[in-house]
Amino acid sequence: MKPLRVPDYADLARSCLAADVAGYLNGGAGAEWTLRANESAYSAIPLRPRVLTDVERCATATTLLGADLAAPIGVAPMAYHRLFHPDGEIGTVRAAGAAGALFVASMFASTDLAEIAAAATGPLWLQLYWLRDRGAVLELVGRAAEAGYGALALTVDTPRVARRYRDLRSGFTLPAHARAVNVDAALMATSHVAEAGTSAIERHSLERFDPRITWADLAWLRERTALPLVLKGILTAEDAELAVRHGVDGIIVSNHGGRQLDGVPATIDALPEVVDAVGGGLPVLVDGGVRTGSDVLKALAVGADTVLVGRPVLWGLAHAGTEGAQDVLQTLREELEEAMALTGRPTLAHLDRSVLGTPNRTPY
Ligand code: FNR
Repeated sequence: MKPLRVPDYADLARSCLAADVAGYLNGGAGAEWTLRANESAYSAIPLRPRVLTDVERCATATTLLGADLAAPIGVAPMAYHRLFHPDGEIGTVRAAGAAGALFVASMFASTDLAEIAAAATGPLWLQLYWLRDRGAVLELVGRAAEAGYGALALTVDTPRVARRYRDLRSGFTLPAHARAVNVDAALMATSHVAEAGTSAIERHSLERFDPRITWADLAWLRERTALPLVLKGILTAEDAELAVRHGVDGIIVSNHGGRQLDGVPATIDALPEVVDAVGGGLPVLVDGGVRTGSDVLKALAVGADTVLVGRPVLWGLAHAGTEGAQDVLQTLREELEEAMALTGRPTLAHLDRSVLGTPNRTPY
């Protein structure tokens, strides 16, 4: 089967990955309620098209923190792309560049930060987890600035990796060919040690992630870098207001693709309160469950500035390397453009909440 839609790549990826790797990629935390909610909440929202609005040209291009994007679409930070295909992050960053999409490299990328930057042809950010070893984090920040990364995305929903039962069952452990090469090997060692019935990445996070950080610690990081700081993993108006008050440069509404706290709402459902709390002062991004151009359009209509896509990019990578990842991003951009034409909204500025009908709520 030639993949046409993004979900086609999900099946193709599953069939070419080892079961434990597919479980790590596709799984979520707990009962995977939030994982399912992310996708089904988009499906529940009907569209309200307008007609006779001249949609010959629908313009998807935009800017984000001063950088140009072909569409408000980016690649969410995901660890270890080499787990899924030998092209690894070089493949996905090239795909993002070719598609005019933002690329957010994970702190646990399996390719050298500078090599990723050298292969990038579009905007590039680095995601960070706050490790107990602050020196290691700082060193990475310095290297990112030197290599030309445009912003830092600090993930704030992960004081520890949640119980992901698929990984516990498979005893998920990182193989030697997928290493977080940008972090000192000694700090990553646990994630390569197998122990039956446990997840090595969960054990690693308990050992190395710093669960003590608070809002007050953001100042420490800000004082040490001139790069814009974006917080990833905000789900409430309260935290959005605190983020604004602490002077961050952007917010990513995210539940980590259903991989952290199970039971939190779908991100498209949390997005309105964050957008309203921020009031346009900062860019608001969102990720989780985006599988079609209409999903992108719905997030933009609620008020997101850019939408990040996670698993679908790795499905494309797993199936067909760079080309597969690029096709996923291109398809989403083309579907967004079509959705704009068919809803009668020829510019991104036309995308407001009037595009959205009342959700057909079924239990997640
Ligand atoms: C992730 N995610 C993630 N987030 C982060 O801040 N740092 C990371 O290293 C990772 N690693 C990671 C690996 C894999 C395999 C997946 C699937 C996800 C979460 C990611 O950035 C994003 O929030 C979700 O993937 C978005 O949901 P969708 O698009 O996958 O549904």
